[in-house]
Amino acid sequence: MNLSVIILAAGQGTRMKSSLPKVMHRIAGIPMLEHVYRRSLELGADDIHIVYGHGGEHLHEYCSDFEVDWVLQAEQLGTAHAVEQASPKIKPDNIVLVLYGDVPLIKSDTLKALVDKVSANNITLLTVDLDDPTGYGRIVREAGKVTSIVEHKDASEKQKQIREVNTGILALRAGYLNECLAKIENNNSQGEFYLTDVIALAVADGNEVLTAQPENSYEVEGVNDRKQLAKLERIHQQEKVEQIMMQGVSVADSARVDIRGELSIGNDSFIDVNVIFEGEVQIGSKVSIGAGCVIRNSKIGDGCSIKPYSVIENAVIDEAVDIGPFARLRPGTHLHAHSKVGNFVEIKNTELGEGSKASHLSYLGDSEIGRDVNIGAGTITCNYDGANKHKTIIKDGAFIGSDTQLVAPVTVGKNATIGAGSTITKDTDDDCLTLSRSIQKSIKGWQRPTKNKK
Ligand code: UD1
Ligand code: CA
Repeated sequence: MNLSVIILAAGQGTRMKSSLPKVMHRIAGIPMLEHVYRRSLELGADDIHIVYGHGGEHLHEYCSDFEVDWVLQAEQLGTAHAVEQASPKIKPDNIVLVLYGDVPLIKSDTLKALVDKVSANNITLLTVDLDDPTGYGRIVREAGKVTSIVEHKDASEKQKQIREVNTGILALRAGYLNECLAKIENNNSQGEFYLTDVIALAVADGNEVLTAQPENSYEVEGVNDRKQLAKLERIHQQEKVEQIMMQGVSVADSARVDIRGELSIGNDSFIDVNVIFEGEVQIGSKVSIGAGCVIRNSKIGDGCSIKPYSVIENAVIDEAVDIGPFARLRPGTHLHAHSKVGNFVEIKNTELGEGSKASHLSYLGDSEIGRDVNIGAGTITCNYDGANKHKTIIKDGAFIGSDTQLVAPVTVGKNATIGAGSTITKDTDDDCLTLSRSIQKSIKGWQRPTKNKK
């Protein structure tokens, strides 16, 4: 059976008090609309229609990689009117699933159960029982069967007691949906065309309304303001962290880890507090990640130790590497196995060979560093001449003395030693000691300057 999804996203979102369209606000680093879009893809939707409103014209710029049909609802006349902007384009035999761009945590399993139940003469509706149903459309049943949905504002005192509410998510045949939409009127307290009226129409036609419920009520919670956004963010983060814990990862405090993207991490790894993962991050087994680290789009091998407050972006780190505290690994960094990068070391676009060490206070940019190299404290690769970037090559076994400047392009030979405090501007030979500092002398009787008298 073919599935079409309509995602309603025309709401103004005024309570967000934002210049950004509501559905572009993020959960786990991903716009709410994209969460819903991804669930639609997981369901195998053949076509996806996003209904947007005024002020939302920029949505498709933000979401330019979405393969969807963008549909403008110029005036917001209600949920039925919104669906009607897209539904006539859908093949009559397709099943239509209606989703909401501001209901981001819905699960594809929940939706699949709903879609699977649709047949030629029924409608399936997702409902949920709430302790406080205020504001929601109530599910009215007779002898157990759904007969209608009554909006809170239109409900009688008795109907307001009903705790089973409409989530707004429903599925039915496109052909039948369009028949119903044509009959819906706006003679209600809000003067809107309610999608929920489809239910009473279907019942009048002798069609059945089947319901399903999500496993968790947060799946159907909508976001209207930033408090609700933050609440769903925490729920989502807790779920993601619990997933990795179930895979054998220890976490110091599950409330103080944020996974904003896709994280895969091997067992017996440990994550201390306030660690943030962003984008696609792959981490091996037995990796320890200290407090306050930020790791973005990187790959980290087994047995690495990343000490507190290190920031790692677009880097590849092989096995058993020691990093930090306070290390900054920028894009293009590749640290080979058993290497070490210590505190206040910044590395960019650089290979650090197996067993090599840069333990303190260095900048290594655009360099190729061999194995078993020792980079002394304060070493700087001067890779930028003000116009262009140049490369530094340091061959296997070299020893770079502290406070050395390597003015690129420059090559340091194999097993070469550079004396501390040198400024190296020319390539150095293998196995030699090279220095560029003046000979130390002492001047006897030299006087320090004194303050001028006024
Ligand atoms: C709707 C349901 C209600 C349900 C509740 C769940 C109707 C009539 N009522 O009420 O039964 O309990 O959701 O949250 O459907 N939208 C458009 N265009 C419009 C109107 C709405 O795109 O013209 C979108 C909004 O952006 C929003 C969603 O549809 O994402 C729901 O609309 P809203 O007006 O908030 O409906 P509720 O009053 O919450
Ligand atoms: Ca709403």
